[in-house]
Amino acid sequence: MSDKPDTFQSTLWRGGFGNEYIGRNPASASNVQSAAMLWAQILRRLQGDPPRNILEVGANIGINLCALRGLIDAQLFAVEPNENARRRLADESILPAANILDGLASNIALTDRSIDLVFTRGVLIHIHPDDLLSSCREMHRVARRYIASIEYFSANPEELTYRNQANALFKRDFGAFWLDHFLDLRVLDYGFAWQRLTGLDNLTWWVFEKLG
Ligand SMILES: C[S@@+](CC[C@H](N)C(=O)[O-])C[C@H]1O[C@@H](n2cnc3c(N)ncnc32)[C@H](O)[C@@H]1O
Repeated sequence: MSDKPDTFQSTLWRGGFGNEYIGRNPASASNVQSAAMLWAQILRRLQGDPPRNILEVGANIGINLCALRGLIDAQLFAVEPNENARRRLADESILPAANILDGLASNIALTDRSIDLVFTRGVLIHIHPDDLLSSCREMHRVARRYIASIEYFSANPEELTYRNQANALFKRDFGAFWLDHFLDLRVLDYGFAWQRLTGLDNLTWWVFEKLG
């Protein structure tokens, strides 16, 4: 495990900026249902060897974890830097306390290859490009079989102002980033969750198998 200090971006998410996000994004039935539709599609690709444990990096209050709980019998884990979000995961019994970890994508307190499926949704976009490779390396280290990312796509890397905050949102082709830096990954599937039909925020997703 690396021992990375907080960055400008992770400090935002640990504080009021992160708390405001929680207020805007409840785990409502419709948000969980939208996530479940997407996860059903992704999990179909893993049917031959379904993950027995799953880690969400940047889980927030657990919208994806609630969706996954209804779809698959797997042990679920969360890494989340925001304390209020972690408390919600515990207080609302979304995960057992032992499965809720303080940390960052670049600093995950789990052993090598201990998790069958490691994924992010809307998290790589909030990591500064200078920290992206160390973050992906750490997720790759912990992953045994599968890695998935569900993120905003841009063919060329770009930074956008997010909620009036500079240096907080970075889009790129994250699928290409994974493949370019981790030669033992092969694409199992990818897709686009079009807002008009899915209720999700025009998200591009990739699921990889780790061959190494
Ligand atoms: C836009 S929210 C997405 C939450 C959740 N994945 C979902 O889809 O509902 C981003 C989450 O990532 C967390 N986060 C921010 N930077 C992170 C980092 N470097 N490593 C891990 N999590 C991070 C934030 O605290 C927040 O909970």
